[in-house]
Amino acid sequence: MAEVKNVPLHVAIIMDGNGRWAKKRFLPRTAGHAAGSKIVENICELAFNKGVKYLTVYAFSTENWKRPDSEVKTIMNLLREYLKDCIKKSTKNNMRIRVIGERSRLDEDIQNQIKELEEASKNNTGLNFTVALNYGGRDDILRAARKAAHDYKDGKIDIDAFEEKDFAAYLDTKDIPDPDLLIRTSGEFRISNYMMWQLAYSEIYVTDVLWPDFNEAELDKALAYFAARDRRFGGIKTDNK
Ligand code: FPP
Repeated sequence: MAEVKNVPLHVAIIMDGNGRWAKKRFLPRTAGHAAGSKIVENICELAFNKGVKYLTVYAFSTENWKRPDSEVKTIMNLLREYLKDCIKKSTKNNMRIRVIGERSRLDEDIQNQIKELEEASKNNTGLNFTVALNYGGRDDILRAARKAAHDYKDGKIDIDAFEEKDFAAYLDTKDIPDPDLLIRTSGEFRISNYMMWQLAYSEIYVTDVLWPDFNEAELDKALAYFAARDRRFGGIKTDNK
């Protein structure tokens, strides 16, 4: 493969289409989630080998609790398995794992797994892999606003000097850069309450491919799309030579 220049530092993914993938095969929706969770590790490895340093996947949104209990249970069990596996694998592949989202609603054993994994991988220098779990963009902003309000009450904030970067430091993503590229599988042009603040200037790539079918060729297409973009962040092009 030709070398791709201009690789995004941070890729965010909305892994959509697991249900449709299963339906096409006359399988229960949960089989789609199982297939979808299996490819996550491979995509992490491929992305890192192509130069991506941060990868964030939307595994469970604040709205996903509305799904049938059995489906929620299956996704949580897949996450349990995944996190358990990650504890062993992150040591081997040097991946640093973080979880964003509101944790208190998650089962206690999952909260403990997350703590253990974040602690065990915190000095790893490979891919920064983040799982959005019980995550909502609005919820992230609201929790950040509450924390900032408490700090204001405690006299820790000078309102007039409070800037975007100061607010961003209260978000779950405080120590990771904003995504450069958002990939959404299975054809829908929606942000679905993903990182509302952080995606402000991200390029968006939507593919019809269903998440369990996403592979290296599809990742290459998304990266090539990004490489061809002209990012101006609201300014104008200055290298008009
Ligand atoms: C969207 O497909 C997918 C989800 C809501 C869950 C994603 C979860 C996983 C891939 C499993 C666990 C994650 C990790 C990180 C191991 P959908 O059900 O909305 O599909 P549909 O739109 O076709 O119904």
